[in-house]
Amino acid sequence: MTLILGLESSCDETAAALVDGNRCILAQHIASQEAEHAPYGGVVPEIAARAHAERLAPLIEATLSDANVTLDQVDAIAATAGPGLIGGVMVGLVTGKALAMASGKPLIAVNHLEGHALSPRLADASLEFPYALLLVSGGHCQILRVEGVGRYQRLATTIDDALGEAFDKSAKILGLGYPGGPAMERLAREGDPKAVPLPRPLVGSGEVHFSFAGLKSAVLRAHESGKYTPADIAASFQQAAVDCITDRLRIALDAMGPITALVVAGGVAANTSIRQALETIAENRSVSFVAPPIALCTDNAAMIAWAGVEHFTLGHSDPLDIAARPRWPL
Ligand code: KG4
Ligand code: ZN
Repeated sequence: MTLILGLESSCDETAAALVDGNRCILAQHIASQEAEHAPYGGVVPEIAARAHAERLAPLIEATLSDANVTLDQVDAIAATAGPGLIGGVMVGLVTGKALAMASGKPLIAVNHLEGHALSPRLADASLEFPYALLLVSGGHCQILRVEGVGRYQRLATTIDDALGEAFDKSAKILGLGYPGGPAMERLAREGDPKAVPLPRPLVGSGEVHFSFAGLKSAVLRAHESGKYTPADIAASFQQAAVDCITDRLRIALDAMGPITALVVAGGVAANTSIRQALETIAENRSVSFVAPPIALCTDNAAMIAWAGVEHFTLGHSDPLDIAARPRWPL
């Protein structure tokens, strides 16, 4: 049975996980840096890199010890090699290289986006290629056709902010703290989604890509006008986000070849309104809807270990001099 140790450190979560070829997460540890970055309203790269460096080794030890596994029993070490904040990525990748060298096991350098893209297959054994993926996180906002391991057709990306970033920046404007997505969703429940006339950037233009910078600026203007409650602004923002996603997905799905399912991944996939909208789209197109559990949607090392399982199964590994990449499109 294939057994992979996965490491993740590309943003503000430090994580290690052991995953096997039967989709079993034997053990995992994850340390969030939310508290460190909260005073700044966003992730500070230097603070993140230092925190990863302090925490990763103890998390790996705890993960191996929880599963009662030694490095000798692991088949390969999978570490995120990008994209992300380069200081953090380097901590994880260098640690992965050191463990690979010390144990004589292969290294698998994983693209963080590929980790998100394949994570639904860790949660759902029946999910077959090709599937449509909406990847919505703090750093990314893409629509992909996932055709196989290493085979991704990108149909849409954002021309400015990612959706999670728009949630976070809007939350900051409303004084809700960081990370803003969950706080915006909670506040939106108390508001009227039709109360504030917010734009739906690019909707109706026929353009497949996303744009959220204008929406965030409109949130700022609405807030400064003093005419609306924060709850009404949050609810209207969330509705605008749902409308943008629905419109973009319609265009992308029309342009895409056949798919087995519509899948959502990334931290914003935790949002219930967005999940519901996607479920409706899937129903209308008679494809199944797959949303991995929220813990697998936000950054974690199990998805990196699973991407490692998929690559290891195909006989892939990487040289120990492979470089960390701050940018690495799928
Ligand atoms: O995937 P993730 O954990 O980290 C990145 O790779 O970026 O995603 C974090 C993002 C943040 O922007 C956060 O505000 C957003 O996901 N998020 C949400 C919700 N929960 C997390 N956005 C909207 N609604 C939520 N419930
Ligand atoms: Zn991520």
